[in-house]
Amino acid sequence: MSLVQAHAVQVALPNTSEKRPFRRAPLTQILHGVDIAIAKGEAVGIVGESGSGKTTLGRALVRLLEPSGGRVSFDGQDITHLPEAALRPLRARMTMIFQNPLASLNPRRSIAASVAAPLWARGDRRDLRARACTALERAGLPAALADRYPHQLSGGQRQRAGIARAIVTGPDFILADEIVSGLDVATQAQILDLLRDLRRDMGLALAFITHDLSVVRVLCERVVVMHRGRIVEAGDCAAVFANPVHPYTRRLLSAAPLPVIDPGWLDAEPDEGGQI
Ligand SMILES: Nc1ncnc2c1ncn2[C@@H]1O[C@H](COP(=O)(O)OP(=O)(O)OP(=O)(O)O)[C@@H](O)[C@H]1O
Ligand SMILES: [Mg+2]
Repeated sequence: MSLVQAHAVQVALPNTSEKRPFRRAPLTQILHGVDIAIAKGEAVGIVGESGSGKTTLGRALVRLLEPSGGRVSFDGQDITHLPEAALRPLRARMTMIFQNPLASLNPRRSIAASVAAPLWARGDRRDLRARACTALERAGLPAALADRYPHQLSGGQRQRAGIARAIVTGPDFILADEIVSGLDVATQAQILDLLRDLRRDMGLALAFITHDLSVVRVLCERVVVMHRGRIVEAGDCAAVFANPVHPYTRRLLSAAPLPVIDPGWLDAEPDEGGQI
């Protein structure tokens, strides 16, 4: 059985640029019936050009958005229209990492406090600091950095802190949205290596949103290609990349210089304890 499943999911959002005074903004259809299934422990890449609906799909999968049609389920439970209070227990099991870790790290809180915040929010308040430090170490950051503030970390270290926050509750599924886009190639490779290790050790399932196909090939077993709010191609990475069927996927592939990231070369380097 799939851990995360979307069936014919539609999302319509208010188009505020066409809103008239005293009227509701007209709705724009963003997703036009999307199907996706992610098994336990599986990593699926979601690719497509800017504006194709990748983030919207991701947000619908973890119910940051309520679909206007279709169905989303998590571990067999229909969550399509669950109210936030009923979603709360599931929030520990499905977490998110974003492109800009500053968005999930409070600038006025220490790293340890931000990482522990999801535990605190659930009323799970034992050994908060120790558990935050364990998550930080798993994400490759020395616990000595726990008392720093976000602005005192490098971009790569901040992304590791964002990952620590996403794993602190012991999730089954992580939505990662363009999480290596702002980083240099060496740091990207280190973060991807970390995610691969975490997947293996924690049995994590991953929805990995990116416009960079080389990243998908490193991390994911399967890929779905989005175009204008629809999935236009889906399959095993090797098959899709070797033999793209949809003209849009072909264009995407020909636009992407594929063999950029090879985390393997990092094995030759001494581990610097996340000091990147
Ligand atoms: N809150 C919103 N209200 C109205 N329209 C939105 C909203 N969020 C996104 N959209 C529109 O939905 C479409 C899909 O956006 P989305 O952010 O899902 O694309 P994306 O594939 O993630 O793009 P990118 O690669 O640039 O992040 C875009 O046309 C966007 O303008
Ligand atoms: Mg996006």
